[in-house]
Parts: sequence; structure tokens; C-alpha cells
Amino acid sequence: MEKDVLILAIESSCDETAAAVVKNGRDVLSNVISSQIELHKLYGGVVPEIASRKHIEKINQVITEALEESHTTLDDLDAIAVTYGPGLVGALLVGVAEAKAISFARNIPLVGVHHIEGHISANYIENKDLEPPFICLVVSGGHTHLVKVADYGTYEILGRTRDDAAGEAFDKVARAIGLGYPGGPKIDRLSKEGNADAIHFPKAKIADAPYDFSFSGLKSAVLNYLNGCQMKGIEVNRADVAASFQKAVCDVLVEHAMLAVKESGLNKLAIAGGVASNGTLRAAMEQACAENGIRFYRPSPIFCTDNAAMIGAAGYYEYMQGTRSGYDLNAVPNLKLGER
Ligand code: KG4
Ligand code: ZN
Repeated sequence: MEKDVLILAIESSCDETAAAVVKNGRDVLSNVISSQIELHKLYGGVVPEIASRKHIEKINQVITEALEESHTTLDDLDAIAVTYGPGLVGALLVGVAEAKAISFARNIPLVGVHHIEGHISANYIENKDLEPPFICLVVSGGHTHLVKVADYGTYEILGRTRDDAAGEAFDKVARAIGLGYPGGPKIDRLSKEGNADAIHFPKAKIADAPYDFSFSGLKSAVLNYLNGCQMKGIEVNRADVAASFQKAVCDVLVEHAMLAVKESGLNKLAIAGGVASNGTLRAAMEQACAENGIRFYRPSPIFCTDNAAMIGAAGYYEYMQGTRSGYDLNAVPNLKLGER
């Protein structure tokens, strides 16, 4: 039997300080997440400097917990995987410096991981049979990518957003209807009380780019609708706005994903990123896949939003392919998928 590969993974690219221990890329032995949401709520969004300061305060505690919960010590580790981009530079630097320090002190191999590669790899954790190639829709607060996962670590971006990311649109619309931060989960919840067909919001299509997305027009349409109601003295039904907006986003995401899967001939679709935890999107995608005979994969909600287990999954495949980062590893805030 081959020896197990144990990886300690660290994630600090935005507002969660997270550490996990992952065995052989797919078995999560621990997954500790310290969320800063309550702190940033006061400001209506993530404040980068506050995020960095909170990461430095929490990181050792989170790593200690992840090791304890998994009954692992630093001596057992084969590698340390850490998110080094994209994300907030100050936030990333905390995780990268920590990973380098442990790697240096204990002489443990270091593997820098792309945050979006992590989100995609979250699908490997609970779907032991999932192997590339497949199509993955990545929908997070900073990214909306339709990706062909050709192999472990090999990605072809088929489409991307031209303006706002899907999660960003959720957050902005939530703010406009007074729901506060973070908007996605709040819209998800409120929309259950609303009628998704009450208001018709436009679905943007981009000529000659069937896989690209645009959400800024939809956001403006919601703002115009709210202004119109205010001018006419009509009371806004916030649940209807939330449900109708969410439907417009989900319809576009489903349409584009279906087209990409069909044209690729791959027959397998995965979703990833914070917005992939959205109940309506999961149900709509599942139904569309069932109707089209496509195998559908999605991580549990806890593995959709930022976590370190997904970094451990991605780090494992990078490690097995020979990827090693040097002690000069730096944070790369705008790192592109597939770049090293
Ligand atoms: O992947 P993630 O945790 O962080 C980034 O890498 O950006 O995604 C965060 C985004 C936020 O915009 C948040 O509002 C959105 O994911 N989100 C959701 C839901 N949960 C989180 N959007 C819609 N429905 C949800 N249930
Ligand atoms: Zn993320």
C-alpha cells in the first residue's frame, strides 16, 4: 500500500482565517474556519486592513485547532499548502508568511495554491469518483468563471464576467434593499418568501461571447426599479425583489453552464465558490443537469464558501505533480488561474 499524504492547508485570502488537515487530497481530517463576518458587518463590507489584523491574531489558534482535531502533529506532515493569490494582499501575506515559517522551521515542503483552483477542488472532497475532465462554474465574491478542467492543475477559461462577479452582484443588491453584508446568504433566505416572477429583470447576453457574463446591467435594473418605486410612492416588496433578482442571476448561470457542457461533450458539471451554496442555484442546476443527462457535482455549502480544506485538496494534486514553492513565495493579489 502507498503511504498516505498528509497536508496542512492554510487560507487567508479574504475574511476567513482557515486551516485544515487533508489526507490524500480527498479526506478532510479537520476543517477549522474563523470567520470575521461579524466584524466587517459593521462597515457593510470587508475592510482589508481589519482583515489582515484579524488574520494575524487568529492564525496560530486556527492551525493549532486543525492539528489537534485531526490528531496530527507537524512531524506527520508531507507538505504545507497555502493560498498565495488572488485576494487581498495584506490578508494573503499573513497565510503565506505563516506557511513559510512552518515550512522553514520544520523543513516541510511548501506548495503555493491558487484560490480558485482551491474552490474547484472542493468538489473532490465529497465526490470521490470525480476526475477531470469536467466543466466547472466558479461563482464567488470576486470571480465568475466558466472553466474547463482538462486535468488536475490544467484549466482552460471558457468564459468570465465582464464586470461584477455574481457574488458581488448579490452583495450590492442586498445593500440596496437594506439587507446588509454579506448579501448572498440574506438574499437566499429572503427570496424564499418572495415571488421570483413578480418583477422582470433583464438577463444580459454578450454578442459573440456565449460563455461570458455581465451583471452590472442587472444591478442597475434593480436600482432603477427601487428608485421608480420610491418616486411613485410605492412600497417595495423586498422579498419579491430578492427572488426576482436571484432568478435572473441563476437563469443566466444555468444557461451558460448547460451550453458549455453540451459543446464540450464532457457531460460532467461541477459548481464552486460562495454563490454555489445558493439554494435556488443548486436546485436549478440540478434540474437542468437531470433534464440534459449531465452528471452534476456540488460541494456541501461549508466547502463552497472560503475554507482551507479545498486548498488542501488542490495542494495535494499540485504536490503529487511535483509543484514546490521556494522561500521567496509571495502573495500575488491578481494571480491568474493556470499561472505560476
Ligand atoms: O467564495 P467566497 O466565500 O469568497 C470569495 O472567494 O469571494 O464567496 C463569497 C461570496 C459573497 O459575495 C457572498 O455574498 C456569496 O459568496 N454567497 C452567496 C451565498 N453564500 C455566499 N451568494 C448567494 N447565495 C448564498 N447562499
Ligand atoms: Zn473564495
